[in-house]
Formats: sequence, C-alpha cells, structure tokens
Amino acid sequence: PADMGADLEKVLLTQEQLHGRLDEIAAQIDADYAGKDLLLVGVLKGAVMVMADLARRLHSPVQMDWMAVSSYGSGTKSSGVVRILKDLDTDLSGRHVLIVEDIIDSGLTLSWLVSNLRSRGPASVEIATMLRKPDAAKVEVDVRYIGFDIPSEFVVGYGLDYAEKYRNLPFVGTLAPHVYGA
Ligand code: PRP
Ligand code: MN
Ligand code: MG
Repeated sequence: PADMGADLEKVLLTQEQLHGRLDEIAAQIDADYAGKDLLLVGVLKGAVMVMADLARRLHSPVQMDWMAVSSYGSGTKSSGVVRILKDLDTDLSGRHVLIVEDIIDSGLTLSWLVSNLRSRGPASVEIATMLRKPDAAKVEVDVRYIGFDIPSEFVVGYGLDYAEKYRNLPFVGTLAPHVYGA
C-alpha cells in the first residue's frame, strides 16, 4: 500500500508537541485527583491514542473503560443525535469520572455524553480532550483539560480519521485535496 506521507498536506502538531502537552496534563490530573480513585472513560474510536498516552503518564492505578457512540450524520459533520453502540461495563455511582476525547468539534457528542454520564450518579464528571476547535462550537462544553485549540480545518491522525483511515498517524495533520477526490 502507498505511504500515508503522500496524502498529507501539512503537519499541525508533531508527536513531540502532543506528548509534551500530555506530560503537563497528566501532572495536573495526578495533582487534582490525588487520593481519589479515578475512572477514565475513553470514547471509541478516536480517543484510543490519547487514552493510551495519557493513562501511562498517570501515577495512580486508574481504571479505564470505553464507550462507543455514534452521532447520526454523514461525512465530516456530526448531527447531535447520539446513539450508544457500546456502553460502559462500570457502574458510575460515586465514581470520579474523567472522559477522554481526541477532539471537540461542534461539542454535540460531549455535551450529550456528559449529561448521560451525570445521570448515572457519579461523584464527578470532567473532560480531557487533546484537541478543540473553538470556532466550530455549536454548544459550550465545560472542559477541564485541553491539549490544544486548533483552527476549524479537517484534521486527521493521532486517533482522528477520514473515512476510518489515518488514525494511526503519530501526529495531527491535514490531508491533501486529492484524498477527498478534489
Ligand atoms: C469524532 C471525534 C469526537 C467527535 C467530535 O468522533 O472523535 O468523538 O467526532 O465531534 P463533535 O464535537 O462535533 O460532536 P466520530 O463520531 O467521528 O467517531 P470516531 O471517534 O470513531 O472517529
Ligand atoms: Mn470520536
Ligand atoms: Mg470519526
């Protein structure tokens, strides 16, 4: 198969930048949750990379669980109608929950997810996201930990896909127009 490098337009955030920021965020999370049991909830599939890289930087023995949700809608836009494809295995009552996401775009997925998880009786629910597109927000989401604010361009890599591909790029970048058939 062809090398992914030919499909890229530019690199937005290098692996070093992503990992350096995760070092800082992990230190904050360690301090903020000192003495508490923490449950990390990763949102499949995009959050797989950030979950793995964040969790291994934490010093307490956190639990990790996963949800898969689908926002109805096609292509590169999400609609705000969210359906659970895979629910958590963990009972959230009394738990400190930190949702781990790769990106907040419109904010619709996370605003739905936060209220869904809050209804399950947790002690707290906070959000950590690697990326956020402030210009694309349709709803305000209160985010505790943010890696980087980025411009409102379509980005791939580090968990983020275009048509389910490019998640395995170790950095965040944009795709060349020919990839979209332009
Ligand atoms: C992407 C991304 C976030 C969500 C953000 O997931 O990983 O979960 O969209 O969009 P929003 O803020 O506009 O709701 P996607 O639904 O593409 O699924 P995936 O993680 O499996 O790629
Ligand atoms: Mn996702
Ligand atoms: Mg996606």
